[in-house]
Amino acid sequence: MTRLADLRARLRGVDPRDVDLLLADALGRSVAWLFAHGDADVDAAIIEEQLRRRLGGEPLQYVRGRCDFYGRELFVDDRVLIPRPETELVVEQAVARAPRGARVVDVGTGSGCIAVSLALERPDLRVIGVDVSVAALAVAKRNRDRLGARVEFAASDLLAAVKEVDLIVSNPPYIPAADIERLQTEVRDHEPRGALTPGPRGTEIIERLLHSGVPAIIEIGYGQLEAIRGHVNAVIDDLTGIPRVVVSSARHGRK
Ligand SMILES: C[S@@+](CC[C@H](N)C(=O)[O-])C[C@H]1O[C@@H](n2cnc3c(N)ncnc32)[C@H](O)[C@@H]1O
Repeated sequence: MTRLADLRARLRGVDPRDVDLLLADALGRSVAWLFAHGDADVDAAIIEEQLRRRLGGEPLQYVRGRCDFYGRELFVDDRVLIPRPETELVVEQAVARAPRGARVVDVGTGSGCIAVSLALERPDLRVIGVDVSVAALAVAKRNRDRLGARVEFAASDLLAAVKEVDLIVSNPPYIPAADIERLQTEVRDHEPRGALTPGPRGTEIIERLLHSGVPAIIEIGYGQLEAIRGHVNAVIDDLTGIPRVVVSSARHGRK
């Protein structure tokens, strides 16, 4: 056994925030508790495996098996993209704009972060999450069940398997294929490739969704607004001032 304070000092070469979060997880305590209990005896190997993975470049959220999104904790692993803070804007817009009782489809649901959050915030909606990745859908269902959200999930290429839809919400893959090699290794080598890029332009899926004729709230990438501006009725900037979410109020919805 080792003194907690000594173990933390010994791991000084690793990002101390990561060490503290991993230690807190392993001990079932808060990070604040670690600061107050430096004399506690702990097994020195308690986070060995997690540190090995982290030092190998795995994102902290995968190593911890969790991340925060829209005020809730979600389970994540390498079958899904790690939900990003800017995607909360999609939820925020959908919460505000979805007509009462609407049938809302989250296209490319991944961890289910958008679908589950929306269903919990707006229980009047009928929310469906679709993804081409059956592996991702298993994670989404786990999040739905843990949080008690009322969401249906289905394997589908975009809307192919969906009969009725009043509103699309989506954070689709939008990174141009050629940009993938320039991403941080944490993203490039660990997050699912199919969650990152739809093809050479990056806007391929965004355009297909905007051309579907269904009203939509869609996250877009840096510099992509110009290519799609003709189909967009409102644009919401993220906290850094970048146009991040577009709203299309196309009226000829599929029924
Ligand atoms: C950028 S991730 C977003 C995941 C989650 N919605 C989020 O915001 O964190 C895109 C998701 O779209 C899925 N996807 C890619 N192509 C698709 C397609 N043609 N039809 C349905 N889903 C697709 C991927 O498997 C991935 O889970």
